Amino acid sequence: MDTIALHPIEASTLAPQVDLLFYALLAFSFGLGIFLTVLVVGYAVKYRRGSGADRSGEQSRNTLVEIGWTSATGLMALGIFFWGASLFLERDHPPAGSLEIQGIGKQWMWTFEHANGRREINELHVPLETPVVVSLSSEDVIHSMFVPAFRMKMDAVPGRVTKLWFQPTRAGTYDLFCAEYCGTQHSEMRGHVVVMPQQDFAAWLAAAPSEQSLVTQGQSLFRALGCSGCHGPSATVHAPNLEGLFGHPVGLANRETKIADEAYIRDSILQPQKDVVAGFDPIMPSYQGLMTEDDLGKLVAYIKSLSPTGGAP
Ligand code: CUA
Repeated sequence: MDTIALHPIEASTLAPQVDLLFYALLAFSFGLGIFLTVLVVGYAVKYRRGSGADRSGEQSRNTLVEIGWTSATGLMALGIFFWGASLFLERDHPPAGSLEIQGIGKQWMWTFEHANGRREINELHVPLETPVVVSLSSEDVIHSMFVPAFRMKMDAVPGRVTKLWFQPTRAGTYDLFCAEYCGTQHSEMRGHVVVMPQQDFAAWLAAAPSEQSLVTQGQSLFRALGCSGCHGPSATVHAPNLEGLFGHPVGLANRETKIADEAYIRDSILQPQKDVVAGFDPIMPSYQGLMTEDDLGKLVAYIKSLSPTGGAP
C-alpha cells in the first residue's frame, strides 16, 4: 500500500456494511463527546468564582425532559444493538450453495483444500462474486483466520469445525493473517487470498496437478482405516448404515435426536461413545489421534457424498 488509508480496502459484500456501522458509532461517540465537552466548559464558565450565577441549589424537575432523554438514548442504544446483531447473524450464516473449501490451521501455516483435491499453502484462490465458505479446523492450538479486506475473522479450534464465509466483490490479492497468538512464529503465520474472475478461477482450479477429489480420497481412507469393514454393504458387524445419513435426524440410545451434520460425524469418529445410535452396541473404537484434521475432513466429505440430498451446507 503506497497511501495511508483510513481502513483496509472493502473487498466483500459485508465490508461496506461493517464500515458503515463503525463510522456511525464513531460519529455518535464524537457527537456525544462534543456535547459533553460543551456542557463541562459552559458550566465551568457559568459557575466560575465570583460570577453572579444562582447558587441557591433549588430543586427543579422537568418530567417530560427526563422521560424524553431517557427513552431517546435507550432507543438509540437498542437501535445500535439490533444493527450490530443483524450483521453478526449475517456473518454467521453462509448462504446455501456456497462454494466449500476446507481450511486447516497449524503451527505455523494455513493449508486449504478445494473439493477437487487441489491444495494450497498460505494462499487461497477464490472466485469473484461467489459466496465462499471455508470450513476451518486446527491441527494443534487455536488459530484465527483473519482477512481484513473482507472484514471477516474466525477462530480455528482444535476438535471443532468453524465456518468463515464471504462473497468477494473485487478481484485482487488480499492479506490473510492469523489473529490468535499461537506460538513463537504466530506473526509469520500469514498468507494471501487471491480473488479471481470466475472463468479464471475455473481454469486455475482445473489445472490441479492430477490429485483426486476430496470425496475419492475420503473413500480410500474409509477402506484403508477399516471403516468399511463395519459400515460397508458387506459388513458382518452390526453398525449403522451411512448411506443417506448426512443432514438427516438420528435417534440416539439416550432417546435424544440429533441432526447428522459435520460436527456430529466428526464426533462420531473421534468420540464414538458420545452419541451412540439407538439399537446399536457402543463397540466403535475412537479414532482420536489416529488421523490428521486433513484426513478427517476427507472422511467427512466422503460420508456427506453418500447423502446427495442432505448435502447443503
Ligand atoms: Cu496461528 Cu497465530
